[in-house]
Amino acid sequence: MNEETLRFYNLQAKNYTALRARPIQVYTDRLEREAMAPLVAAATNILDLGCGEGRLTRWLAQSKRDQGGDFTVHGADFSPEMIAHARALNGDLPATYGVGDAMALPFPDNSFDLIVSCTAPNNFPDLNAALDEIRRVLRPGGAFCATIINSGETARFARYLYYSPYYLAKLAQRIVKGASSYHRVLFSREELEALLRGRFKTIEISGMRLIPDFVPEFPLNIWPPLFPVMSGVIGATQSLDHWLAKHPKFGRHARFHLVIARVAK
Ligand SMILES: C[S@@+](CC[C@H](N)C(=O)[O-])C[C@H]1O[C@@H](n2cnc3c(N)ncnc32)[C@H](O)[C@@H]1O
Repeated sequence: MNEETLRFYNLQAKNYTALRARPIQVYTDRLEREAMAPLVAAATNILDLGCGEGRLTRWLAQSKRDQGGDFTVHGADFSPEMIAHARALNGDLPATYGVGDAMALPFPDNSFDLIVSCTAPNNFPDLNAALDEIRRVLRPGGAFCATIINSGETARFARYLYYSPYYLAKLAQRIVKGASSYHRVLFSREELEALLRGRFKTIEISGMRLIPDFVPEFPLNIWPPLFPVMSGVIGATQSLDHWLAKHPKFGRHARFHLVIARVAK
């Protein structure tokens, strides 16, 4: 476990719900739900790994409740503050939560038939070891669905440009205070394929979210009075964005990899 990453997320917990209410995050939430919906409908025991304050866990529980039948939905996160917020926000939804580290999952083998993990895998200290754990607690025939930030994202260069004062300030801080050990690693599509191969029978990786990341987030996605403008841009470009992100060539330039990997039956 990385102590500095843990401290970061413990501190971020109280602001996380507000951060996720920004237009580009609302759009991401919708894309993730659309991709997961068929997997969720077919699953009985679901784990949301690195669940944060439970934004997806609540949707998973709501979807399964609407569907009816027996099921379990569990959110695990290594941050006690995130888990406290998730419990407080959960209301009467049929979900449980617990502190759990992806590097040593507190579940017996073959516990789940679906594990979802959105952007959390970028923070795991060793994704290879975390995938061993994910594979261990997944049943035969189970699925792993993740969104993972792409090291090959093209819009990152646009972001470096318009956020250059912020990055320069960060660099100065790092020089003065010493290197931060906050852990976030980005992956290329090839790196992910290599990590997943051998563990899963089928692996599908497509892109997710491309056009909106070229729009300067500050101020459009940060300042609430401008949210309608950002939402308008996202709404006007979403069909093209969807097509580009799913395209085998252009999708490699997207912000996220959308991974769907299935275990052999
Ligand atoms: C970017 S947030 C994403 C939260 C949530 N999945 C979402 O999409 O809203 C990353 C989350 O992963 C959690 N996390 C990071 N490293 C972890 C680890 N080793 N084990 C479990 N959770 C971890 C953090 O505490 C944080 O809540």
